[in-house]
Order: sequence, then structure tokens, then C-alpha cells
Amino acid sequence: MGRTVKSVGITGMGSHLPERILTNYDLESIVDTSDEWIRTRTGISERRISDADTATSDLATAAALKAMEDAGVTADDIDAIIVATATPDMAFPSTACIVQSNLGVKEAFAFDIEAACTGFIYGLSIGEKFISTGDAKTVLVIGAETLTKVCNWEDRNTCVLFGDGAGAAILREVESGWGILASLLGAEGWKGKFLTLPAGGSRMPATLETVKSGKHFIHMNGGEVYKFAVGIMPTATLKVMEKAGLTTGDIDFIVPHQANKRIVESAAKRLKIGSEKIFMNLNKYGNMSSASIPVALDEALEQGLIKKGDNVVLVGFGAGLTWGSCVIKWSR
Ligand SMILES: CC(C)(COP(=O)(O)OP(=O)(O)OC[C@H]1O[C@@H](n2cnc3c(N)ncnc32)[C@H](O)[C@@H]1OP(=O)(O)O)[C@@H](O)C(=O)NCCC(=O)NCCS
Repeated sequence: MGRTVKSVGITGMGSHLPERILTNYDLESIVDTSDEWIRTRTGISERRISDADTATSDLATAAALKAMEDAGVTADDIDAIIVATATPDMAFPSTACIVQSNLGVKEAFAFDIEAACTGFIYGLSIGEKFISTGDAKTVLVIGAETLTKVCNWEDRNTCVLFGDGAGAAILREVESGWGILASLLGAEGWKGKFLTLPAGGSRMPATLETVKSGKHFIHMNGGEVYKFAVGIMPTATLKVMEKAGLTTGDIDFIVPHQANKRIVESAAKRLKIGSEKIFMNLNKYGNMSSASIPVALDEALEQGLIKKGDNVVLVGFGAGLTWGSCVIKWSR
């Protein structure tokens, strides 16, 4: 007997950002850079920095509580917790299990996914499957990062780009034909070498030498990642619209991964979509990896930029290299 496939949508959103702000001017006294260089090359003016005693799970829990309140669900309602993060509290237990404990969620399964900056879209797509097949009713999906803890503050190529934060969504069944219309995930693992955090895993366990040589920090070939991003962002958007049986003319709003203003503008140009339909807040937060899209989506909703019935596209790319897109017919 076949299972009924249910429509799944986001019924609550929340985000949380550390209070401390690090501006481009502050960075001028840390590395050889300038506000002018960072703003013109990336669009970033400032980013949030978590305290020494704040871990990814702390930001994730705070965002989750807001999403739960927004959706009107309690800890008892949650059947699954998915945390997308490239900066987990530790190798294990998973950050999702730590969040579960923080929230007092008793009957749920919980796991992390590592798709870097595309992680939130991967999480939505995975969470949707559990609900659409009837295996879960309420799924909490979180994108949370403390990237500033793995930045090399002596490397101007990377440390100016990243920030900390968390965003969360509650997924539940919605009226048929609403919610997530299509999602598309991809990876090009052979390009993984362009964005890495090499040490601390089984390939290069932590030693005094790995710490001394900065191998526990982010290493990036910015040009190669840029090339990948400007190609995949419009392609992933076009393909997911096609999968949903729609065209780019049906797009009401896009929330892209917030890595670089020039990447977003290039995608918009290729898609022939006006800037009024594209949300950007990277000037305030930098690139928060898996947290970028949910934080941006939450802010766009707060600003009343998305209304019921809008076709909203989420699209991103990241380490892996991974990419993903998703189109949601907004249902609330
Ligand atoms: C990193 C990035 C902003 C660099 O911008 P760019 O215009 O391509 O700049 P380039 O790489 O050509 O570097 C130009 C020069 O600026 C220098 N530079 C790099 N960072 C700098 C900084 N923070 N301040 C001042 N100068 C800097 C470089 O050293 C280089 O100098 P050189 O020509 O003397 O070697 C851009 O490539 C990018 O955004 N890539 C994608 C990164 C990304 O999104 N990563 C996360 C993926 S989720």
C-alpha cells in the first residue's frame, strides 16, 4: 500500500545573533585590510562575534526557542531535530542532541548534517521527507555557526568574510499544494580542496604541529569558490523552478546564501531578476554559513517582504563543494 505524500511548509521562524559587533574598521587594526576593500569586494560592513563561552548549540537553542514560539509548538510536539553546522560544539555528541537536551525535547530523533553553507537547505529537504511520508509531524531545522572560532585572525583572505549566528525553522504539514514545492541538492566533491578546515579529523588528528601551523582554521581558494558560486546560483535557481513546474517569472522573492554581494548580484543579473526581489543582509553579518539563509529569511519575514502565496526561492552553495535550492509557496 503506497503512502500519502503530504505538503510540508515552514510554520515558524526564529533567529539569534551574538551581541558583539566587529566592524571593518575594527579589522583594520587586526590584519592588513581596509573598510573600503572589504565593502567593495564583498559588501560586508560588520559581523557578529560570539563570546569565548558561547558555543554553536547556545545560538542554535536560542533561535529554536523563537521559531517554536512563532509556530506555536512546544518541546513535546517536536519529533526530529536537524542541525546544519560546520562548527559543531564537538565531534560528538551531535549539536542536535545538545540542542535537544537544552530544549527538553523528550521523544525525538536528532542529528547533524554537514553541508557547510548549503546545510540549511539540505536540512529543509531532509526534514520535509520525514513529514511528507508521515514519519514525523513536527521537525525543527536549524542552521547555526560560530565560524569566528575557526577563522585565522592573521589571514586577511578569510577572516574578514565570516560571522556567527543561528536561524531555525519549524516544518509541519500544510494545505496540499502549499509549502515546499521542490528542492534540489547537489555536490561537487572533487572541488572540496578549495574550501577546507584540514585538521582535527581522522586525516590529520590534532597535534601541537597542526595547531602551530594553523591547520585548524579555514583555508580557502577564494577565486575558485567565487567561480563555482556565480555559476551554480543561477543554475540551481532555474532548475528548482523547472522541477516545480514554474519559470523564473513566477519567482516573488529570493533569499540567497549571504557570502558576497557580487555573487548575489551576478546571479540576479543572469536570472534577470530585480534587486527588489532579492534579500541581502550580509552587510550586517558577513557569511554565517548554514545560518545565513535562515537568518535572512527570518529578517525578510519580519520586514514584511514575504506574503502568503509568494513563491520564495532559497539558494546556496558552500564547502564540499555543495549547492542547493528550494522553492516554497509561502503558506502563512
Ligand atoms: C575572497 C574574495 C572576496 C576575494 O575577492 P577578489 O576580488 O576575488 O580578490 P582577489 O582574490 O583577486 O585578491 C585581490 C588582492 O586582494 C588581497 N586581499 C585579500 N583579502 C584582502 C583583505 N581582506 N584586505 C585587503 N586586501 C585583501 C589579496 O591578497 C590580493 O592581493 P594580491 O593581488 O596582491 O595578491 C572573493 O574571491 C570571494 O568572495 N570568493 C568567494 C568566497 C566565499 O564565498 N567563500 C565562502 C563560501 S560559502
